[in-house]
Amino acid sequence: MENRTTNLGIGIIGCGNISAAYLRLAPLFKGLEVRAVADLNMDAAKARAAEFNTKAQTVDDLMANKDIDIVINLTIPDAHYPITKRILEAGKHAYSEKPLVLTLEQGTTLRDLAASKGLKVGCAPDTFLGGAHQQARALLDEGRIGNVVSGMACVQNHGPEGWHPSPEFFFLPGAGPMLDLGPYYIANLINLLGPVKRVGALTNSSSPTRTIGSGARAGQTIPVKTPTNIQALLEFQSGAMIQLTTSWDVWSHRRNHFELYGTEGTLYVPDPNFFGGKVEVASKDGTVETVTPWDHPFGVANQNLDTPTPRANYRNAGLSDMLDAAETGRHARCDLDVALHAVDVMTSILRAGETHSVITLQTTCERPAALGPDEARAMLR
Ligand SMILES: NC(=O)c1ccc[n+]([C@@H]2O[C@H](COP(=O)([O-])OP(=O)(O)OC[C@H]3O[C@@H](n4cnc5c(N)ncnc54)[C@H](O)[C@@H]3O)[C@@H](O)[C@H]2O)c1
Repeated sequence: MENRTTNLGIGIIGCGNISAAYLRLAPLFKGLEVRAVADLNMDAAKARAAEFNTKAQTVDDLMANKDIDIVINLTIPDAHYPITKRILEAGKHAYSEKPLVLTLEQGTTLRDLAASKGLKVGCAPDTFLGGAHQQARALLDEGRIGNVVSGMACVQNHGPEGWHPSPEFFFLPGAGPMLDLGPYYIANLINLLGPVKRVGALTNSSSPTRTIGSGARAGQTIPVKTPTNIQALLEFQSGAMIQLTTSWDVWSHRRNHFELYGTEGTLYVPDPNFFGGKVEVASKDGTVETVTPWDHPFGVANQNLDTPTPRANYRNAGLSDMLDAAETGRHARCDLDVALHAVDVMTSILRAGETHSVITLQTTCERPAALGPDEARAMLR
């Protein structure tokens, strides 16, 4: 990445909510140049193109555009697999929003197709590359809390039907809190602990319907067809056991997002939905120390700076890393294998809940390499 002199052409398919963050943050990274955007809805593509001074194309034209080397897939989860497949068939690298796919079979097809064409497939989230999460990892790797024996990861609230104007897809198979929010927590667990061996779970839902709370359809009732409250247990290949909660059936709670319990102490990790946050460590005597943030560029707040909760947001870091990996032949940190293993974890958790069983995973992956401050800095302009 340090030596790249020419830009790679980026195309974006899917000009909805999250596309603004990708378009806004891409210029932070060396070698990334967004050259066109597309959407089924041409008005959405034109609006984003005008906002970010780029070109709007149809999906077909963008796929055929010779100036584009890599396409970011920001469509809805159901469209991730067919669009990523088409990107590869068009001879371009693909980077998808989460979840990568909805079944292992889809993921295997993408892996084989990419391999046959010498192309890379990567997938969000890349928040685990954030300064806080990489600092937590460095502390773990230097043995600060000894061997991790157990821990917890938790994301729970009352779900998106209150604020999202068309929230039905969140409550259908393919979403729910596990597939929608689980990727952040599972990707960071894999970053910290490596791959998972087996999972068990109990699942339920507080209600068979939800009521839309905003927009033109406020007051309408929508069906709930996937569990909205999931309590899972994950056994890692390292031997660590983690209790994971993803729920949209909770109005208020006082649980932390992420804690790891080791033989020498406890590591408190901030919310993996974000790049930054407070890292704390407790020693054997129970004294809790707030760790001074290290000088890592992906932990520096760059958004909401005039609010009480400024945030670090470095979306595209995973993409930038993947392009470097494509050039040098190494594994990308947000590689297909890591994302597919996360899909295996999530879909197996839901199946364990349905079948009241413990499920041994079919996939594994390499623990992504750590991303230290110098390597992260080299990605930025
Ligand atoms: N919104 C967020 O804050 C957020 C955050 C992180 C990740 N994500 C993920 O990003 C993805 C997109 O989320 P969003 O909130 O931007 O959704 P959105 O519904 O706002 O936008 C999706 C866009 O994709 C387009 N689209 C759908 N199918 C298509 C197809 N086959 N071909 C071309 N265009 C198609 C739609 O027209 C729409 O404009 C999802 O996977 C979501 O999980 C969203």
